[in-house]
Amino acid sequence: MSTLVETRRVSLRDLRVRYSPTEPYVLDGVDLDLLAGETVALLGASGSGKSTLMKALTGFAPITSGEAQMAGYDLTRLRPKQLREVRSQIGQIFQQYNLIGRLSVLTNVLTGTLYNAGPVNVLGTFSAADRRRALELLDRVGIVHKADEQARTLSGGQQQRVAIARALMQSPRVILADEPVASLDPRMSHTVLSLLQSIAKDEGIPVLVSLHVLPLALAHSDRIVGLRHGSIVVQGNTSDLDADALAPVYDVHGDEEM
Ligand SMILES: Nc1ncnc2c1ncn2[C@@H]1O[C@H](COP(=O)(O)OP(=O)(O)OP(=O)(O)O)[C@@H](O)[C@H]1O
Ligand SMILES: [Mg+2]
Repeated sequence: MSTLVETRRVSLRDLRVRYSPTEPYVLDGVDLDLLAGETVALLGASGSGKSTLMKALTGFAPITSGEAQMAGYDLTRLRPKQLREVRSQIGQIFQQYNLIGRLSVLTNVLTGTLYNAGPVNVLGTFSAADRRRALELLDRVGIVHKADEQARTLSGGQQQRVAIARALMQSPRVILADEPVASLDPRMSHTVLSLLQSIAKDEGIPVLVSLHVLPLALAHSDRIVGLRHGSIVVQGNTSDLDADALAPVYDVHGDEEM
């Protein structure tokens, strides 16, 4: 396998995660591959472990056992410096956008370049080339006309697209999007998810996106993975799945808390 492909994939084998030795496993034997260019939708009831899976991939949840390769790194043997390196190469998108509201849209995108730089004065330190690239990315996500506005003045859908441009500014090897459309209306949800799927293809990187709305997963992913009580209970190509096939992900009886 070429190095490029190796650094643009995620591979988990029998991954187990628990937050404390006295608690049950939150992820209990997860096998998962994310390949370059594909968008994988992660489904699961509240508490099933979706965010924990994303956190395990960024070193924010403790991997108790199993194998975990992320973007060419072995996540189970990372030194602190490598952990910073891995994080700088993962584009993360969250439900709440996490923009700096008082700063301009353009500056927010530019902060993507600082991910690996540690604490610095973020103002006035960006090169002309970085600014050009940030504007290109804003154009790509369809809001370059907002570049000079304060981020807090934008709608949710616009803010999420700024967050995507900021993630792209990192030239990420992988994108993890944890419920990126949970606060958006249906139309904007489609816009943002189709944007993420096209980014996966164009950049040749895997995109993992957790969702609560089945039709959105069916419309905007290449594969679907269904998590239940920390284990994968459904996994397949999206074109082979429908609501019935995904029912085991949500089926009743002793379900997670709502
Ligand atoms: N930092 C933590 N310390 C201890 N337990 C945690 C921690 N984070 C999550 N958990 C527990 O792990 C389980 C899975 O939580 P997680 O947030 O991964 O679920 P989720 O699928 O993302 O849910 P939701 O759809 O509500 O976002 C829950 O039982 C939760 O209480
Ligand atoms: Mg979650």
